[in-house]
Parts: sequence; C-alpha cells; structure tokens
Amino acid sequence: MASVTGKRTPFIAGNWKMNLDHLQSIAFVQKLAWSLKDARHTFETVEVAVFPPFTDLRSVQTLVSADKYELKFGGQDVSAFDSGAYTGEISGAFLKALDCQYVIIGHSERRTLHNETDELIAAKVAAALKHGLVPVLCVGETAEDLEKHGPSAVPVAQLKAALAGVTVGADIVVAYEPVWAIGSGQAATPEQAEQVAAQLRLALVELIGQEAADATRILYGGSVKSSNIAGFMRQTNVDGALVGGASLDLAEFSSIVQFQKHVGT
Ligand code: 13P
Repeated sequence: MASVTGKRTPFIAGNWKMNLDHLQSIAFVQKLAWSLKDARHTFETVEVAVFPPFTDLRSVQTLVSADKYELKFGGQDVSAFDSGAYTGEISGAFLKALDCQYVIIGHSERRTLHNETDELIAAKVAAALKHGLVPVLCVGETAEDLEKHGPSAVPVAQLKAALAGVTVGADIVVAYEPVWAIGSGQAATPEQAEQVAAQLRLALVELIGQEAADATRILYGGSVKSSNIAGFMRQTNVDGALVGGASLDLAEFSSIVQFQKHVGT
C-alpha cells in the first residue's frame, strides 16, 4: 500500500514463470541483492519482489532471512482452498508460512492455459487475503478484445469480477498486462498503459473505496525492458512493473529497478 506520506511506493516485480530451479534461484537472488547494494538501491524508495516457482520458495526464504535482504517474494499462484484433497495445489497458508508477502493471481497464462475463470480468480483473491497475502491481480485484454471492445473494457470487467467479494480498504496490487504485449517484444505505449490504469483506478474506487484506490499500486506488464521502463514510470497511474523475460536477466532487471536513474532518458 501507500507509504506513510500517502504517496504510492513504486513496485518492480519479477515474474520468473517456469524458469530457474532452486539452486539457480539462490545464485540469482544473491547476485541481484549484491548488484542493488552496489548501486546503493534503497528499498523504501522502490520496492522489489521476485516470484519464483514454488519449489524455489524455501531456498529464497532461507537466503533472504539469513542475509537480511529487503527483497520481497511471493508465489505465482495460490489455491482457492485452505487444505485437503487438491492434488498439485498450494495453499495460501503454506505461502504465508514461507514468509511470502505477495501472490500473483489471474495471470493470463493461467487464464488461458489452465482455463481459470473470473469466479475461480475471485475465490483465489479471497483465499490470498484470508491468509494475509497481498494479491497481485493480473488483468488484461487480448488483441481480439482490444479490436472488439477497445482498450479498457475487458481489464475493467476482469477487475470487477475478481474483486466483487472483497471488503472496502483491501490491500491489493493490480497488474495491467495486455496479453498481446506479453513476451511479444511489443510493449504497450506508456500512454496506452496510463489510459487503462486510470480506468482501473476509477473502478477501484467503487470496489474498495477512494482511500484504498488511491493507495493501490497499479503495475504495467508486457515486454518491459530497461529501455522502456522510464516511460511507464512517468505516468500518473502506473506505479511499477510486472516483468517477465527481463526479470531473468540480472543486469536488465537491476537496471529496471533503478529506473529513477534513467527517467530523464
Ligand atoms: P514479459 O515481460 O516477458 O513480456 O512477460 C510479462 C509477464 O507476463 C509478467 O507477468
């Protein structure tokens, strides 16, 4: 949520997807922490999180805790259920027990490849909040949606469906990820991202109230690189990025985190 000053703290998050095993995750997180330390990065100024595969989380937790890194981490998905006969699922309680602070919910790859519906995503958001995790709720339109319905209709509808049951003041992060921009190398323009982010924030006012809507970080995701991050971060309603491919490249991700050094470029 917002910092005490009422300003939203920028948030740069790396979604590793199904990349880096637990040994590779240790090496990567260590190098990232060193790189940001060398650059004198302050985590109060720009919050940073990584979202490794489930099998890496224990290793990342152990490292972060032992070396007192300020880096946050979370899961890439969560079960709608607490426990029981749900083979292959991971409970929010388990993520919380590993010190996860965040969990990605409703990523377009899960909506598409795992047929996740708005109802299931809403149940997962509720489960995350119940277990004290901050959902990073992903919404976004396909190229076809964009042509048929314009830029913000589908993301706003997805947001409303996912948050229908949450209470006023809920602590969430929203990631606007146009499906056509994910992994395509063709990012949205900063103006396109801002247009949709502004609509999402308006919808948030109705869903969680003005104060929480003002405090909610809205991220842009889809082919974010060190060369285009500054443009997104200049937008009023864009508060950070959910980075896929470039989050696996140490120099790139580190540079994205330090976007404030190149906002003028
Ligand atoms: P890319 O940055 O690889 O386009 O992926 C974005 C994404 O899906 C992050 O969740």
